[in-house]
Amino acid sequence: MTDTPFTPRVFSGIQPSGNLTLGNYLGAVRRFVEMQNSGIETIYCMVDLHAITVWQDPTDLRRHTRELAAAYLACGLDPQKSILFNQSQVPAHAQLGWVLNCVTRLGWMNRMTQFKDKAGKNAEKMSLGLYAYPSLMAADILAYKATHIPVGEDQKQHVELTRDIAAKFNHDFKVDFFPEPEPIIDGAGTRVMSLRDGTKKMSKSDPSDLSRINMMDDADTIAKKIRKAKTDPEPLPDNLDDLADRPEARNLINIYAGISGQTPADVITQVAGQQFGQFKPLLADLAVAHLSPIADEMRRLMGDVSEIDRILGDGANRAAEIAEPILAEAYDIVGFVRSR
Ligand code: AMP
Ligand code: TRP
Repeated sequence: MTDTPFTPRVFSGIQPSGNLTLGNYLGAVRRFVEMQNSGIETIYCMVDLHAITVWQDPTDLRRHTRELAAAYLACGLDPQKSILFNQSQVPAHAQLGWVLNCVTRLGWMNRMTQFKDKAGKNAEKMSLGLYAYPSLMAADILAYKATHIPVGEDQKQHVELTRDIAAKFNHDFKVDFFPEPEPIIDGAGTRVMSLRDGTKKMSKSDPSDLSRINMMDDADTIAKKIRKAKTDPEPLPDNLDDLADRPEARNLINIYAGISGQTPADVITQVAGQQFGQFKPLLADLAVAHLSPIADEMRRLMGDVSEIDRILGDGANRAAEIAEPILAEAYDIVGFVRSR
């Protein structure tokens, strides 16, 4: 991590929109846990305000929020060490979000590739919230003056936008108030691809369940999805360069590396010359051994929803204690009268 004049503080979030995937785990949650255990203050959010930018059934949203909390806990996030909460319980996010909507320029928003990908040809029918979402994401981060943001590759552009928004706020109001946060994107799992198409991101919302491994999948389902994963007829080479034109093979090597905590270069030397008929069972065994205990723990935690809600409420109180004074100072800088 590079130095900044601001106290280091980690913030990240995941949308509770269902089907937490292996991509979320390797790209995000596992790295949240590493950062929690590195001695820096860590704040991790279930971003329910972001989730409703596309339609969410209310009953499902509530269940998915608790499931995501269960996943955070089952993967090793500890509510004593990290602040864990759902975004809608801390109003400062939406409040600062409005101020930042008025700092952010439309031209910047028009460059956001995720909106273009999600909206496709239907931009006219999308919610205003989906379009404005990166500015709310900036508010999530800046309400805590967070400096380090662990995310997967697809969120890099949004964290860079947050830097631009912070810099424009500081410049417009002639202050040095918000830090310019850094995206932390490293390791083999920052872009886990679909098991059906190695050129597409593994995603919660892919219509094909075979395209992803869900954190709640049982052992048989994980093994079946890996067995059916798209590959090519060639054996595995002994170096990564030879995987350049083989996205599916490259993805399976990356997944193996991500789960086992090795580098892709180490993995390829161990499995050089193997056919997929040999390599896939190895990967399936590794994935099942690693993920099954997490799924079991998630199911156990989901058996006591009131305990999850208690943890989220407590986390929200602690989060609000940090965010409210920052919001108040931002309001003062903007020139709002505060008299209560
Ligand atoms: P989302 O599911 O879009 O809320 O994403 C939550 C976090 O998981 C973000 O940091 C994403 O960058 C990360 N993420 C989502 N999908 C993947 C993927 N396929 N590979 C790596 N990281 C991912
Ligand atoms: N936009 C992120 C995603 O879809 C989730 C998110 C919302 C987030 N607010 C955040 C991530 C703040 C990091 C920091 O994956």
